[in-house]
Amino acid sequence: MRYTSTLLILISFLPACANQQVSYKRDITPILDKRCNGCHIAPQGYGYLVTGLEMDSYDSLMQGTIYGPVILAGDSRRSIFNKLTEGRAGKMQQKLHGEEAISNEEIEALKIWVDQGALNN
Ligand code: HEC
Repeated sequence: MRYTSTLLILISFLPACANQQVSYKRDITPILDKRCNGCHIAPQGYGYLVTGLEMDSYDSLMQGTIYGPVILAGDSRRSIFNKLTEGRAGKMQQKLHGEEAISNEEIEALKIWVDQGALNN
């Protein structure tokens, strides 16, 4: 009986976790500030100088690099933004990324946010 009710509570709780809406303003900007903007900031950040990618506003992040977008809304698998943070990019692209101490929770939040459509929410 006790086991059954514990199980029921767990089952009803799981979808709530999976469906949690990630917020760009609340969840994503602090991660970008902490882990990325040291380099991806105009005019002198190293990552900005090399790629033109600025992440201090939603619009500049979605605009991407001088070559184009780095986020495919709804598709973290194919987004270079997520490939780099997850360490899935090729050696040549990965370079500095992966040396920074980004946590698994932060990596996961960036992934869920992109998969939920990379909204300005
Ligand atoms: C130590 C400086 C530094 C930090 C910190 C940094 N970047 Fe970069 N980033 C670069 C440089 C330099 C490049 C261009 C060369 C390369 O890909 O390594 C770049 C390129 C990129 C690109 C474009 C890659 C491509 O091939 O189009 C993306 C996307 C990116 N960074 C995302 C991020 C994200 C997300 C973070 C934070 C989690 C971050 N970067 C943190 C320096 C940095």
